[in-house]
Amino acid sequence: MLTEGQIDEYRTSGYVVVPGEASADDLGRIRAEVARLYACDHPGRVLETDGVTVRGIHGCHLESEVFARLVRMPALLGAAEAVLGSKVYVHQSKVNAKRALHGDAWPWHQDYIFWEREDGLPEPRLTNVVLFLDEATDFNGPLLFLPGSHRLGTVPAQRRSDPGAATPGGDGDGWRAHLAADLDYALPLERLVELVGRFGMRAATGPAGSLLLFDPRLVHGSGSNMSPFDRQLAIVSYNSVDNLAGEHRGQRPEFLSATETTPLSVWDGGL
Ligand code: SIN
Ligand code: MN
Repeated sequence: MLTEGQIDEYRTSGYVVVPGEASADDLGRIRAEVARLYACDHPGRVLETDGVTVRGIHGCHLESEVFARLVRMPALLGAAEAVLGSKVYVHQSKVNAKRALHGDAWPWHQDYIFWEREDGLPEPRLTNVVLFLDEATDFNGPLLFLPGSHRLGTVPAQRRSDPGAATPGGDGDGWRAHLAADLDYALPLERLVELVGRFGMRAATGPAGSLLLFDPRLVHGSGSNMSPFDRQLAIVSYNSVDNLAGEHRGQRPEFLSATETTPLSVWDGGL
């Protein structure tokens, strides 16, 4: 369970890192499952621009029993319920691989702009719960945050790709620009100069097994992985059950925008 101090830090900075939340056994099981998913051909599997290295696996809890249990484990689900103050469901789940030497950058962005504009979620009542599957260091492309920037709300940013292309079933190409190194809704340079001057920049580093929670309005990004070690993250984006998409719900594939919104209950039976 998160302490009051950790919840305060989340509210003030827009994120908090909590070390030691997953056991070595659980990490081993998840890493083995991730290796299996990397090898499965699935529309939610996205490659780096080299066309070979896996960049991310999307919709893990829909594809894998291990992930279906992981998203309901008390440490993750309890943390999401605590910061959102309601029952929740998984809007998105993914593994960002950031492989040794080949893992590419994520430009500066906010998450909620995607969930509002593409998926029609009315309020930023979501949270990202991230499990570090490897140690995140200064050198393997850790998440970088502008602490406190979540309080700005949505910062204007441009969608560069064709809006008609994000089709159900994953065969249209548009949604790929929501996952690629040349990202839709990336923040422009002039705006970043101003925001970094105001909020500063911090890297979210820590040992494997740490949990990181971050607000969907927090400005974040990450550099490429220059180290010979992977930086794999499992990221579960929980939405409050009081924040369902209405008539403006988008058309993105299920693995990016869940239509299954039944409130989750805790699974305490191990992975
Ligand atoms: C994200 O923005 O969702 C993840 C970025 C990263 O994996 O570094
Ligand atoms: Mn993001």
